[in-house]
Amino acid sequence: MSEKARENFGSRFTVIMALAGSAIGLGNIWRFPYMVGEHGGAAFIIIYVLCSLFIALPIFFCESILGKSTGKDTFGALESVAPGTKWKNEGYIALLGSFIIVSYYSVVGGWSVDFLIRSFMNDFKGESFEEAAGIFRHMTSSIWEPIVSLTAFLGLTAAIVAMGIEKGIGRFAKVMMPLLFIMIVIIVVRSCTLPGAGKGIEYMLKPDFSKIDGPAFAAALGQGFFSLSLGVGCVLTYSSYMRKEENVFYTGVWTAIFDTFFAILAGFAIMPAVFSAGLEPSAGPSLVYETLPVIFSRMGPLVPIIFFLAILIAAVTSAMSMLEVLVTWLVDQKGLSRKKATTLFFIACWIVGCVCAVSSKVFSICDFMSSNVFMMFGALVFALVVGWKMKKEDVRTQFTNYGTSHKAGAVFSVVWFLIRWIAPIGIVIIAITNLL
Ligand code: TRP
Repeated sequence: MSEKARENFGSRFTVIMALAGSAIGLGNIWRFPYMVGEHGGAAFIIIYVLCSLFIALPIFFCESILGKSTGKDTFGALESVAPGTKWKNEGYIALLGSFIIVSYYSVVGGWSVDFLIRSFMNDFKGESFEEAAGIFRHMTSSIWEPIVSLTAFLGLTAAIVAMGIEKGIGRFAKVMMPLLFIMIVIIVVRSCTLPGAGKGIEYMLKPDFSKIDGPAFAAALGQGFFSLSLGVGCVLTYSSYMRKEENVFYTGVWTAIFDTFFAILAGFAIMPAVFSAGLEPSAGPSLVYETLPVIFSRMGPLVPIIFFLAILIAAVTSAMSMLEVLVTWLVDQKGLSRKKATTLFFIACWIVGCVCAVSSKVFSICDFMSSNVFMMFGALVFALVVGWKMKKEDVRTQFTNYGTSHKAGAVFSVVWFLIRWIAPIGIVIIAITNLL
């Protein structure tokens, strides 16, 4: 595809909202708050921020530089930067990673469609926790219900992606992301003013440094990678649609700030409500789909609607970014039209998604492989290619946007060191810790 014909996101606000949309997702809502509580409250938040600053954010910059400087998909970007080498094969791994993640992620996204409809019908009113757990178990063990909702979720995601970068993804993100923030703030206010909410706030904030150990660091970094959508080409692909005058440093920093802020907000939306109901928090599906519907429906019929709508928006904007990695590849490398490419991958992801929807075993394998193997490997390759294959001056030019960003210029030497040494070594140590 010629340079001229390539779309772009338009305004800077749109790029940041699209990247924040990719970053803010289920990872923020159902994993982060629980991890914080388990690994020492504010102490974990501190190491999470450190890991994000020193390892995750530099990788984000690498992907962004690769995408923006080449204006190509993952495969094409690696080929441009390291022509004739094997590095471009990472393109296949990124594709596989995005493909697998979007397929199983859509199953969970589908559940939120299902629960949003149930919330509209006021299904959870007056239910006990056991009954709500029964609803969830019944839904996930039926065959057709998860498949119908998966189809709806993936269909919505694909429809937006098919509309293009500016008119589809960009427009959806710039309208929906601010709305998402408003919705989560409403829930935070409701939740923190409940009787007994203080314990939940304490759970999130009380620092317990004795819980900071190796596994806590591994958890913080893994969460940081997942949350910033790293290692499978999402950031690279979105950055390839930035306008030339956009600033990689600025967009990266703002995306990370929004992402972390939202994760903490999600904690304050969820944990005070859980504790005020006299419960102990858990993570994942049982928290979001068994406990919270009941607690939130006690707070009024609108609260579950707002909550599941928020999850749906968060999940769709994340799924879009993964589907876009696949679509951009087919368009750039194989010359397909955007609509054809989206349709093909919609079908392929739907098939794998259906398998994940009916088999929890396949679901867990996909989850494990993507976060421990594909993402880590991809992140390592991106760091090595930018840190060791690109010339330092070229990286500086891209990072500072041809010397126009003085703030980026001021931190460049630190970022360069992080990209070359700290990030790769950190990734290797953590990947090994996770796999052992
Ligand atoms: N970051 C998203 C979340 O927190 C999920 C996500 C989108 C993702 N794209 C990704 C995770 C790429 C890993 C890799 O839910």
